[in-house]
Order: sequence, then structure tokens, then C-alpha cells
Amino acid sequence: MTQFSYIKEIVKSGLENDQEKFKEALNELIEHSKKTKKINYALQLQSLLKDAIRQEQSKGPKLVGSHAYFARLEDKELNDFVLEKITSEYKFENLIVSDEVQNQLEFLIDEHRSKELIQKFNLPVSNKVLLYGPSGCGKTLASYVIAGELEKMMYVINLGAIVSSKLGETSKNLAKVFRQASMEDCIIFIDEFDSLGKVRDYAHDHGEMKRIVNTILQLFDYLPQSSIVIAATNQIEMIDNALLRRFDVKLKLDLPNKKQIKELIELVLRNGEFKFDKINAITTVLKAAEGLSYYSIQKALIGAIKRSILDKNITKNKNGLLITSSIWLDLIKQEKEKITN
Ligand SMILES: Nc1ncnc2c1ncn2[C@@H]1O[C@H](COP(=O)(O)OP(=O)(O)OP(=O)(O)O)[C@@H](O)[C@H]1O
Ligand SMILES: [Mg+2]
Repeated sequence: MTQFSYIKEIVKSGLENDQEKFKEALNELIEHSKKTKKINYALQLQSLLKDAIRQEQSKGPKLVGSHAYFARLEDKELNDFVLEKITSEYKFENLIVSDEVQNQLEFLIDEHRSKELIQKFNLPVSNKVLLYGPSGCGKTLASYVIAGELEKMMYVINLGAIVSSKLGETSKNLAKVFRQASMEDCIIFIDEFDSLGKVRDYAHDHGEMKRIVNTILQLFDYLPQSSIVIAATNQIEMIDNALLRRFDVKLKLDLPNKKQIKELIELVLRNGEFKFDKINAITTVLKAAEGLSYYSIQKALIGAIKRSILDKNITKNKNGLLITSSIWLDLIKQEKEKITN
């Protein structure tokens, strides 16, 4: 059958209000999409279907205190803890990193692609990743690349909502999220992992922090091999040492060096679609851009491109659009001032 015939079947059963047939046809389309390598599409449909089934199970009046009643409450809370559920199209070519980080990331992806082979030798697959380093250097982007390369669904966790001032609550919340995510064989992305440290201020005794660290260690231990936890922080020094040790892979995503700034510029210039008006512009700007994050450099360059497009004096010559270098340099300097002030 073709995709079109599956869709026709879904529409027909939908209009006839035949839920069973509808789900059956949708499942067939999901399988068909997987087979035809439309993995992201299949994952999204699968997630929609699962959400609908979950909602259906908790719909209607429920006896207060019954199992279904608590299940519904739990579901509502879970939605507060998960910021978004995403699939990603990002690939390695979108991310610029040092050779060492690149190797480690590629190895991680390879390991997961060849999980069965590694498990045959009774070896564990690395699935706890910590990304750290300054803001705007690709921690979030790297997590999207991992999700994109592995074509896995990613839960982005709202740690702010999970960390609670109530004793014992943070551990409970964490367990809830991990339980759900491990059922779906996906990636759990915990951004701003250092905010767990807030617990130290909330609870004036060390007991609560210890309990949370222990919970996380346990959750890590029981994490299915096909799931991956990625934690990100720009304050690694805030993270408990016992926790740090449990990560299989720790990657520092640092500020770009000259070579990496050049690569970023090439990426933004889209292989020559945009060009500078002066030949030596890159050398001057490279110097000025050192010490800035990828994000700031990219922002300044995109700003300069847009201004150059809008500037009436700029023409699109047949070799590509010319960027006024001086605007770029000014914007880079502005970004620099932001960090020095
Ligand atoms: N290493 C990189 N390679 C290519 N582009 C990058 C890189 N780092 C950052 N960028 C660009 O900057 C944007 C912001 O980066 P990202 O959100 O990944 O930073 P971050 O390290 O997560 O920062 P924060 O600590 O503030 O969350 C990215 O979407 C991308 O456009
Ligand atoms: Mg980030």
C-alpha cells in the first residue's frame, strides 16, 4: 500500500467514527513511514497516538482517590515537567566543535547505532552524557544533533518545575519523568542541570540534596540502554562530584578558536551565497571576534547581512550578495562590549 492509501483509510474511519479502525490504520501508516525511512514523521505520529490514548484513559468523571483519578493527576503534573517533546533534523554538519569533541560525539552515535553488537559482548552502552561550557557554544545544539543523528524523540525537561522546595518532592518528580521517558525509548534532555543545586538553599540540611543525588544515581542505574540522558550546564562546578562521576561522557563545548570561527563564518555565508565587500575583512573580524561565543559571532554576522540587504547601496552582484564589512566589525565590537561591561 502507498502512503496515500493509508491516509485514505484513516480519513474514512475517522469520518465513520470508528476508533478501532482509525487507530489500526494510523498504526499501519506509522509502520509504513518507518519502513520508508520517514522516521521523524513516524515518531511524531506515534507520539500523537500515545498522547491520545493516555488522555482517553484518563477522560470522564473519576472516583476521587481511585487509580484512574491519580493517574490523571500524575499526567497533568508530567506535562508541567516536560517543556517539549521534539524530533530533530539537526546533523553533525550543523555543529562546529574541536576534533576531540567531534570524535567523542561520533563514537557515541556509533555506539547507539551498533548497540546490539556491543551488548553481545556484555558491554554497557554509554548513555549518560554531560555537556558543559560557556553560554552560546552549542550545548543545546549538540543535544539536537544527537537526537537528529539517532532519529530519536527527545523530552526537554523543565528542571525549574521539577526542583521543589518541599522535602522529598524533587526526587519524586524526577522519578516520574524518568519512568515515563524510559517507557518511550527516547532522549531525556535536562538543561540547566546546575539548578538542582538550588535545593541546597531551599532545604537547609544536607539530607535533601543527598536524597536527590541518590535518586538520580539510581535512576541512572536503571536507565534502559536504548535511552540517553543528556544534561547541560554552564556551571559545572555547581554539580555534586558523586553525580559528575556517573556520566559516561563529559564534553566541554568551549568558545571557538580562530579555525572554528572561520568554519562558523563559512556556515553562515552558506558556501558563498553571501560575500564580504573587502577581501581582508575576515582577518580583521577574526581578531575582533576572539573571546566571543558562537552565538554572538553568528548573531553579529546575520545582523550585518540583513543590514547590507536593506542598505540601498548594496547590490546583488552575480557572485553573491556583498556584506558591508564595517557594519559587521561594528556589530562584533558591540557584542564584545556586552561581555566586558
Ligand atoms: N558549536 C556551534 N556550532 C555551530 N553553531 C553554534 C555552536 N554553538 C552555538 N551555535 C549557534 O548559537 C545558537 C545557540 O547555541 P546553543 O543554544 O546551543 O548554546 P548553549 O551552549 O546551549 O547556551 P546556553 O548555556 O546559554 O544554553 C545555536 O542555535 C547555533 O545557531
Ligand atoms: Mg542551551
